[in-house]
Amino acid sequence: MIMIDKKLKEKLKKAAQRVIDNAYVPYSNFPLAAALLTKNGKIFTGVNIENAAYGSTMCAERTAVFKAVSEGYTEFQALLILSKTKKPVTPCGSCRQVINEFGKEIDIIMMTIEGREIIKKNKELLPGAFDKDDMDQ
Ligand code: THU
Repeated sequence: MIMIDKKLKEKLKKAAQRVIDNAYVPYSNFPLAAALLTKNGKIFTGVNIENAAYGSTMCAERTAVFKAVSEGYTEFQALLILSKTKKPVTPCGSCRQVINEFGKEIDIIMMTIEGREIIKKNKELLPGAFDKDDMDQ
């Protein structure tokens, strides 16, 4: 099982650090940033974007995925989630499901500003996900 190398991880962290303060979080004051690495080395970032109608909030991870897909990229190696918390933050269920659509083997790097990290494959975070195989039968 190939995991993301150190240099790429640092590059993703830097990309997430550059945008984390763009998180629009007036309600939670809980900024997050994501950096998504495509198979051919391009990076798309995302932040959480909240709304007065709380349910209309979008997570950082899905912002990054939707930016990439809308630009024509659908193959990904890794997604880093950066938080300002003590412990790394894990992607919510909806984000896991959206990531699963584009690859069960994507490395999910959960990292704090101080550098604490946990790395898991998306399939470990969302075992038995509903996907197109369930529909193609
Ligand atoms: N949030 C994310 O951006 N990603 C996640 O995976 C979990 C939650 C955001 C949504 C909201 O703006 C804030 O964190 C608190 O839930």
